[in-house]
Amino acid sequence: MYFVTRCLGANDEGHLTIGGVDAVELAERFGTPLYVYDEKSIRGHCRAFKEAIEENYGGHGLPVYASKAFNCLEICRIIKEEGLGIDVVSGGELFTALKAGFPAEKIYFHGNNKTPDEITYAVDSGVGRIVVDNYNELRNIKEIASLRGVTVNVYIRIKPGVDAHTHDFIKTGQIDSKFGFALENGEAFNAVKEIISTDNVRLAGLHCHIGSQIFEIQPFEFAAVVMLRFIKKIRDELGYEIDELDLGGGFGIRYAEGDDAKLYKTVMKDVSEVIKKFCSENQMKLPFMLVEPGRAIVGPGGTTLYTVGSVKEIEDIRTYVAVDGGMSDNPRYALYNAKYTVLIANKVTKPADTKVTIAGKCCESGDLIQENVLIQSPEAGDIAAVCCTGAYNYSMSSNYNRIPRPAAIMIKDGEPRVIIKRETYEDLVRNDI
Ligand code: LLP
Repeated sequence: MYFVTRCLGANDEGHLTIGGVDAVELAERFGTPLYVYDEKSIRGHCRAFKEAIEENYGGHGLPVYASKAFNCLEICRIIKEEGLGIDVVSGGELFTALKAGFPAEKIYFHGNNKTPDEITYAVDSGVGRIVVDNYNELRNIKEIASLRGVTVNVYIRIKPGVDAHTHDFIKTGQIDSKFGFALENGEAFNAVKEIISTDNVRLAGLHCHIGSQIFEIQPFEFAAVVMLRFIKKIRDELGYEIDELDLGGGFGIRYAEGDDAKLYKTVMKDVSEVIKKFCSENQMKLPFMLVEPGRAIVGPGGTTLYTVGSVKEIEDIRTYVAVDGGMSDNPRYALYNAKYTVLIANKVTKPADTKVTIAGKCCESGDLIQENVLIQSPEAGDIAAVCCTGAYNYSMSSNYNRIPRPAAIMIKDGEPRVIIKRETYEDLVRNDI
């Protein structure tokens, strides 16, 4: 049998297994909907990125986990143990990382509209790098740093003009983005000048991020070259050496059969070669390289389990299979038409020969998890498994229709443990007055 991600399998009872554990038993024991994570998968992906930097770039770099993909105390602890850095984009993500004991100097603070409160919190916590998005923010950072009498290490977020999401990706003209400083109009260069002539703020590096769920290698290579040219310009014209280059995240994963996800090692190898070549041709020091995978770390190791509540066959139209969750725990189909593989966990070895639409329980027609997908013949009471939901599911979940968020469990060596408790109805009214 083909499974879209390595942590899945089937046992003798014909049930789906996740990290070797029977998914039907997990559903019985912990209830549904349920986010199930395989720890081995998460740690394995962390190590793959570290090894890629080791093997191709002499270890002169750091993978930084983009925690917007999935942030909770336990994932922060795992990422810390694996020796990665962490990217946070809000006071809430920062708070979670710090509460999990994440070393502040390995925290990278992103976001296109950090509030003065968030900046103060980051400065007072001693985060490693703040990635500056715009002039207003830069001035706020300067003010807060000088009030505190500290020097803050920053990166500048650059729009490298590489749009990885058009079919034939374009290399210029991505100026229309809410994130970062543009190169074309001199904005980025002026920001560099402003920072290097200011006290209390030290320009440690440059950052870019070209998109998410990218399968091609070339956009990453182009982005690296655009950034290196800019680093060279800064050296040649301002005499200032940039030591760190953060190339962002975006590594695509396989959600369904046929998705052509590249091995991260291949991407990292090619990008490293491009950087090394450029630097040697231009007598430049190799920058410390950072990458910020989010989806690639946690996506493949996550599976959501649901109980099927009804099967509604509309003759000559379609069959709706309604599950006990939906866009409240996974809004990605509603938002992006995102692709997923769906399995019936209690009959996973049977042929997937029934075309259905998986619908959620929210009062909204667009509340779908997947349309026209082939699954094992479904009945009420079955356990449906949606694969590769580890990234941007829990983190984008909501209480729409006052549906409590599901629990999340982590499986390690065949043992499941709860890492996020299921919300209760009481939780829903906790802040109501
Ligand atoms: N670094 C920066 C600055 C980012 O903005 C992002 C993602 C990442 C790293 C991580 O990208 P990844 O490796 O996960 O592709 N909600 C969408 C994805 C939004 C990504 C936003 N930025 C989804 O569900 O597909």
